This record gives sequence, C-alpha cells and structure tokens, in this order.
Amino acid sequence: MTRSYFSAIVLMVFNLQVVAQPLGLPPVPIPADNPQTPEKIKLGDKLYHDKRFSADGKVSCATCHAKEKGFTDNLSVSKGFMGKQGTRNAPTVINAAYMKTQFWDGREPDLEGQSKQPPVNPVEGGLASHQPILDVIKKDGDYPKMFKQVFGVDEVSMEQVSKAIASFERTIIAGNSPFDQYQYGGDPTALDASQKRGLILFRSKGRCVSCHVIEQTQALFTDNRFHNIGIGFKKLKDNEAKTASAFLKEKHRGAEVDVTVLTQENMSELGRFAVTEDPTHVGAFKTSTLRNIAVTQPYMHDGSLKTLEDVVDFYNNGGRVKDTDPVSGFQSGGIRPLGLTKEEKKDLVNFLKALTSPEFSHLAKR
Ligand code: HEC
Ligand code: HEC
Repeated sequence: MTRSYFSAIVLMVFNLQVVAQPLGLPPVPIPADNPQTPEKIKLGDKLYHDKRFSADGKVSCATCHAKEKGFTDNLSVSKGFMGKQGTRNAPTVINAAYMKTQFWDGREPDLEGQSKQPPVNPVEGGLASHQPILDVIKKDGDYPKMFKQVFGVDEVSMEQVSKAIASFERTIIAGNSPFDQYQYGGDPTALDASQKRGLILFRSKGRCVSCHVIEQTQALFTDNRFHNIGIGFKKLKDNEAKTASAFLKEKHRGAEVDVTVLTQENMSELGRFAVTEDPTHVGAFKTSTLRNIAVTQPYMHDGSLKTLEDVVDFYNNGGRVKDTDPVSGFQSGGIRPLGLTKEEKKDLVNFLKALTSPEFSHLAKR
C-alpha cells in the first residue's frame, strides 16, 4: 500500500501521468507523443472491437484477443478472415503495454506500430491496404466526431487510429494476483504450501526466473529478450540454413516480414532471426510474461503445448517434448534437464496458477 502511494507521489512530482497501478506492476510506460485521455481510450476501445476493418467484416482485434478468453483466442494458432489459419499463437494483450518489443519476434517496437499490421495481414484482417479502414471511419456516425474531439482533425490518418488503439491497450493491465499479494502485499497466506514450494523452485532448481524475471518491487516475468528454448525445432531440423537463406531472399526482394512469417510455417520458426538476420537468433522467441498464464492456454509461439503440466514437462526434459528427442544446436544454454520430481512439477504448476489476477480468475479451470 505505502509503495503505491509513494509511486503516485513520485509521478506527480515529475508531472507524469498517473495511471492506476495494480500490486506487483510498475507504472505503465506512456509515450510522450501519445498521452492517455479518457476520450482517446474510449475511441481505441471502439476501434479495437470494430469488425468492419477486415475483408469479410467479421474480424476485429477482439476476435483473436477476446476479454472473455484472457485477451487471447485460446486456439493453437489464430484464425483470421474466412477462417484463414496463421502460423502463430495469439499472445495475450494483458500487460502487453510493458513489453519493450511487440510480437513473438519483437518486430515492432511499440503498440502503435503493432496495431497497424493485423488488418492488412493476408491471414488476419485480409485487407489490401489501410484505405478501407479510413473509408469506414469517414462514413461512420460517431468516428468523425470522436477523432475531431481527440486529435482535432477532420481528415483521419492511420497514425491516429493506431495511437487510439494503443491507448486503449495501455488500460488492459492486470496484477494483484495471489503471488503479488504474497510477494509485495505482505500477505503470507495468499499462497498455499504447494505454491510457496513452487515459487522457490521457480527461483532455484527450475531456473525459470533467469528469463521470467521477478524484481524487488515488481514482476513482469519477462527479461524482454529472445531465447531458443527448443519449441518448433523439429519443423526446421537440419534445414535451418536453407530456410534462413530462402527467407532472406524474400525479405530483400521486399516481402513484409509479418506476411512471410505468418503464412509460411517453416519461416515462422526462424523467430528473432527474421528481424535481426543474426544466425544466433534462429528459433529465438520473446520471453512471454507468465501473468494470467492459467487462462491463456495453449502455450508457446506455435501453441504446441496444451497445458501447464505439458510446459513443465517440456522444461524438465531440457527443452524437449520427449526426453528422447534430439536437441537443436541453436538452443539456449539456459535450457537443460532439471531433474524435478513428480511433486516438484506439481508445485511449479500450482505456483503458475497463482499468477492469475482477480478479474480473470473466473476463467481459470480448476
Ligand atoms: C487473426 C487473429 C488476430 C487478429 C485479428 C489480431 N491479432 Fe494480435 N496477434 C495475433 C497473433 C497470432 C499474434 C502473434 C504474431 C507474431 O508474433 O508474429 C498477435 C500479436 C499481438 C500483440 C503482441 C503481443 C506481444 O506480447 O508481443 C499485440 C499487442 C496484439 N496482437 C494486438 C492486436 C490488435 C490491437 C489487433 C487489432 C488491430 C490485433 N492484435 C488483431 C492474432 C491476431
Ligand atoms: C532461457 C530462458 C527461459 C527459461 C530459463 C524459462 N523460460 Fe519459459 N519461456 C521463455 C521463452 C523465450 C518463451 C517463449 C518460447 C517460444 O514460444 O518459443 C517461454 C515461454 C514460456 C511459457 C508459455 C508462455 C505463453 O504465453 O505461451 C511458460 C508457461 C513458461 N515459459 C514457463 C516457464 C517455466 C515454468 C520455467 C522454469 C521451469 C521457464 N519458463 C524457464 C524463456 C525461458
């Protein structure tokens, strides 16, 4: 409690915007050129839910990032207009505002840039350009008034559309989980005995905390870096170099990275390499936050692990589904067999279930 009063005072002293900040989370970073206002957030909310910004008029951001599914779609890989299937799992939008980069491969630096891609991706919104969005806005009964009020313009641009959506997303923030109440709220009863053992394993024998970071006063559960933990490796096996050079050929010919990686399964597996072109980044993906992980199944960039038990088994096997599977030469050195007992695996899973915020706990399977 005292800590949040303190932060609020610090924010006021420095004349920054004060955004309500749940237990366990730092202040939401707000870009200087896109301040939060109630009107802009409301506009972003409407845009986020507008299905007309897609080729079949049926797909909005909320189709794949639905509040009632923990701001995901609970599918292995997402389905866009006309049911077209992509290659990747939809990450939650909850707390995406804290991420230093957006997407599994970090190809966009911020929410503003991120929000421009889905409507024109051939397996998501399916529009040929952003123009149809601006046309819908122009003819709508409410949008022109709203954009005028928020941005003072008569002619709306995609810049403003993306700013409003990003502002709305910066309100989709959730902390205050049982873990936060235990760790930062001073409530020793917020975790049960198994979850307390799980937290210790998370920090020690499980080695999870080296990437899914917990800090002194807050926890985002991500280091905002990219690692190859061994997911999807079989799809690239022994073809890494060939796939990488085919990808570079397409990219340098002018193909958009988001189109290539979301439409071609093997290229999707290149991960961070698609952005940096650094061969040591082949198969490396952004460390996910683990907040609300119990409601955002299935897991990993390809949605290949169905349950938290599967995830813990995968790590326990040294980044392999079966401990007889081969290990990729590109795999992070931080991933190795853990030797967890059956009880320890259960404790770790129970700990992960303590990361659910109260407003999403009704979505968790018991
Ligand atoms: C057809 C399903 C679909 C639609 C529609 C869609 N998304 Fe996504 N979203 C995804 C998938 C899949 C990814 C991961 C893609 C990748 O990493 O290459 C993603 C990634 C994201 C991320 C990155 C989160 C992170 O942790 O990196 C954000 C934020 C996001 N989407 C917001 C939006 C917004 C805003 C819209 C509407 C403008 C939208 N999405 C429309 C499926 C969708
Ligand atoms: C070397 C860094 C690293 C370590 C150590 C690590 N993780 Fe991860 N974790 C990642 C990365 C990177 C991803 C995304 C990987 C992907 O999709 O290819 C991830 C994904 C996950 C996911 C799925 C997230 C989602 O939204 O789909 C869970 C759950 C998870 N990790 C839990 C754990 C647990 C539990 C441990 C300890 C046993 C652990 N991690 C150790 C880096 C790490």
